[in-house]
Amino acid sequence: MPLPATIPLPGGLAMPAVGLGTFKSRGQEAAGAVAAALTAGFRHIDTASIYKNESEVAAGIAASGVPRHEVFVTSKVSPYQMGSEAAIAACEASLAALQCTQSSSGSSGSRAGSSTAAPAPIDLMLVHWPGVAKTPADSPANAAARQQTWRVLESFHRRGLFRAIGVSNFEVRHLEELLSYAEVAPATNQVEIHPRYQQRQLRAYCAEHGIPVVAYSPFGGGVLLDDPAVAAAAAAAGVSPAQALLLWGLHRGAAVLPKSVRSERIAEVAPAELAAAEAALGEAGLARLLAALDALGEEEAPVKYCWDPSGIA
Ligand SMILES: NC(=O)c1ccc[n+]([C@@H]2O[C@H](COP(=O)([O-])OP(=O)(O)OC[C@H]3O[C@@H](n4cnc5c(N)ncnc54)[C@H](OP(=O)(O)O)[C@@H]3O)[C@@H](O)[C@H]2O)c1
Repeated sequence: MPLPATIPLPGGLAMPAVGLGTFKSRGQEAAGAVAAALTAGFRHIDTASIYKNESEVAAGIAASGVPRHEVFVTSKVSPYQMGSEAAIAACEASLAALQCTQSSSGSSGSRAGSSTAAPAPIDLMLVHWPGVAKTPADSPANAAARQQTWRVLESFHRRGLFRAIGVSNFEVRHLEELLSYAEVAPATNQVEIHPRYQQRQLRAYCAEHGIPVVAYSPFGGGVLLDDPAVAAAAAAAGVSPAQALLLWGLHRGAAVLPKSVRSERIAEVAPAELAAAEAALGEAGLARLLAALDALGEEEAPVKYCWDPSGIA
C-alpha cells in the first residue's frame, strides 16, 4: 500500500503525514529550516509556544513563498499555560506570533475561501502535556486544568480560530477522561513513537476511538540514527536510517515529525523522497524493513528518549 500523503482528521481536515519538527530550533536557524522544508515539499510544521519559535515559523513560511493557506501549522498550549485564563492568553499569543490573527472581515477563514493575503487560523492546537507545570504529578489540579484548557480550545475552535484541536502526551486514562466531557473530539494525540517505543496499546486505543496519532521524536532525538540495529535494517533495504524510521512510523499509521535544521537532512526526508524510497524498496523489501524495525520493540524493554507522562494523575 503506498503511503498516504495526508491523514484525515475528525472534522474533515487533511493533515500532511510528514511534518517538520522544530523543538530546540531557534531564531534564524528555525526560520531557515522552515523555509527549507517548504521548498523541499513539506506542507506541515510543528511548533509550540514553549519552543519560543512561533514567530520564526511564521517568518520561515513567509520567506518560502509558499502561501500560508497551503501550510498545515500545529502549535501547543504549554504546561505553564493550563487553566481557563492562562490558556486564553496563550491561544491569543500563539495566534499573534504565528501571524494568524483573524482578519477584520471576521471571516472564519475556511481553507477553500482563504486568499494568500487573508490571515489564516492555526490548523491544529494541542494541549501539550496532561499536567500543569510546578504542580505535583498526583495532584487533582492536573485533571481540573486539563478540562478548563480543553474548554478554551473548544471555544477557539468554535470561533474558527483553530481548525482542529487535540492533545499531546496523553495516556489512555487521560484520553478516557477527555472523551467523557469533550464537546469537540480530539483530532490527534501527539506522542513519542519509534521502533524502540512503539506504544502499541495506546495506538490501538486511539485507532478504536478514531483519534489519529502523530509520532514525535521519530529519530529518538537523533540517537536512533546511530542505533546499529536501525542502521543494519536501513542498509539491507538500501535506504537511509532516517528514511527507514519514518517509513516505519508512517506504515504503522502515524503522521511523523522529523526535526532538523540542516537543509540536506530535511531534503532527505521530504515527502517525495520518502515516497521514492518506498517505491524503490518494492513490496517485499518494504515488508522486510518494517518487520526488522517491528522486532526492535520486542527485543528488550521499551526505550523512551523524551519526557514521560505516565505519572500524571
Ligand atoms: N509534543 C511533545 O511533547 C513533543 C516532544 C518532543 C518532540 N516533539 C515534536 O517532534 C519533533 C521531533 O522530535 P525531536 O526533535 O525530539 O527529535 P527527532 O526528530 O527524533 O531527532 C532530531 C535530532 O536528530 C538530528 N537529525 C535529524 N536528521 C538527521 C540526520 N539525517 N542525521 C543525523 N542527525 C539528524 C537533529 O539534528 P539537526 O537539527 O542538527 O539536524 C536533531 O538533533 C520535535 O522537533 C517537535 O516538533 C513534540
